[in-house]
Amino acid sequence: MNVLILGSGGREHTLAWKIAQSKNLNKLYIAPGNAGTSVVGENINISATDFDALKIKALELNINLIIVGPEDPLVKGIRDFFENDSEIKHIPVIGPDKHGAQLEGSKEFAKEFMARHNIPTAAYESFTHNTLTNGYAFLETLKAPYVLKADGLAAGKGVLIIDDLQEAKDALKKMLEGQFGEASNKVVIEEFLSGLEVSYFALSDGNNYKLFPEAKDYKRIGENDAGLNTGGMGAVSPVPFANERFTKKVIERIIEPTIQGLKKDGIHYQGFVFFGLIEVNMEPYVIEYNVRMGDPETEVVIPRIKSDLLDLLAAVPSQKLNEYPCEFNSETATTVMLVSGGYPENYEKGKLITGLNNVKESLLFHAGTLKKGNDIVTNGGRVIALTSIAENKAEALKKSYKSAETISFDGKNYRKDIGFDI
Ligand code: AMP
Ligand code: GLY
Repeated sequence: MNVLILGSGGREHTLAWKIAQSKNLNKLYIAPGNAGTSVVGENINISATDFDALKIKALELNINLIIVGPEDPLVKGIRDFFENDSEIKHIPVIGPDKHGAQLEGSKEFAKEFMARHNIPTAAYESFTHNTLTNGYAFLETLKAPYVLKADGLAAGKGVLIIDDLQEAKDALKKMLEGQFGEASNKVVIEEFLSGLEVSYFALSDGNNYKLFPEAKDYKRIGENDAGLNTGGMGAVSPVPFANERFTKKVIERIIEPTIQGLKKDGIHYQGFVFFGLIEVNMEPYVIEYNVRMGDPETEVVIPRIKSDLLDLLAAVPSQKLNEYPCEFNSETATTVMLVSGGYPENYEKGKLITGLNNVKESLLFHAGTLKKGNDIVTNGGRVIALTSIAENKAEALKKSYKSAETISFDGKNYRKDIGFDI
């Protein structure tokens, strides 16, 4: 098969690395990719949201399968674009259509979906500028802290958690006045849930699904979960508290009802589902859905999968997922993300990265990197994920941290406490 992966992060490098190992692969392309993906496949300099250019390239390269890494192209309707064009509708896209992608693209859509299908989640109401005073009244009925979510995509920044009632009211007003542009024309206010977070992942063919290993990511920039939110500073899989008993509840109360709910709602969902959960007294609740794999969760989930991932993905369009096994190993995978100094605020790019060839004990997944002549330089906030696999978490972390020290670039920063709290 000729496969095209869309995206340019650590997630996409990990998917490319895994698919490159498949016996069924002929050629692998990544658009736009990064310095790491160019080693396992061929980078194509097209943005993941430039559908017209992707169409021309997919035809030219005789692509048989497109795997969408990030949410943006899905929410913008890349699947619909391919399905509705007679010249390219034979090229299957792994990822939901625009309707299904609303699970991530609209918090209100996701909450209504969960309510309709009895899937446990925090109590909520949603408000627009016209119902601002109702929003204030709703906030008064809740206990602090207050959770305010921009309805639309806001690059991971659209969720505010505020301790003070008056500040929450002011924040609601600001959001509805366009703080996050169109994304916050509508705001979901929900009950605050307290507990440990864990994410589960499934691949759905619209009828059957395969469960992947679960993972926990570390979103804040600072140790002990202090400071600003990032895309993710590290991840661990498996997650000790997400034991067999807990996972059984997750499957029965959340995953199965979600897959069934999508079918009942007439959404032909062929792609990844990311269940962002929180456990409250060992009971799982959904915090969010994403319609793609997580980053950096992919960097620990995919390396634990023993089966041929391309076999599974290729079975999705014909709804034959149930004919293939999805086995994973019981070892622990950890990843530590090296980031640019200043991230998630302003940071500089173009810093020379050295020591990459000296990393022996970890898989090295590139995120924001760029090849410049013979050099590899930084090209984003999150630069490189160092994934290690070992019998237990402590051993895996030891390797990831050793590798983290081996690599150098100006401004390098990383969290030293990944995995220590679980
Ligand atoms: P989201 O973008 O919906 O995943 O929210 C971002 C982060 O905000 C989550 O990872 C949680 O840490 C936190 N969060 C979101 N909703 C809630 C909630 N209802 N209760 C507590 N924390 C929440
Ligand atoms: N690491 C969180 C996400 O991918 O959304």
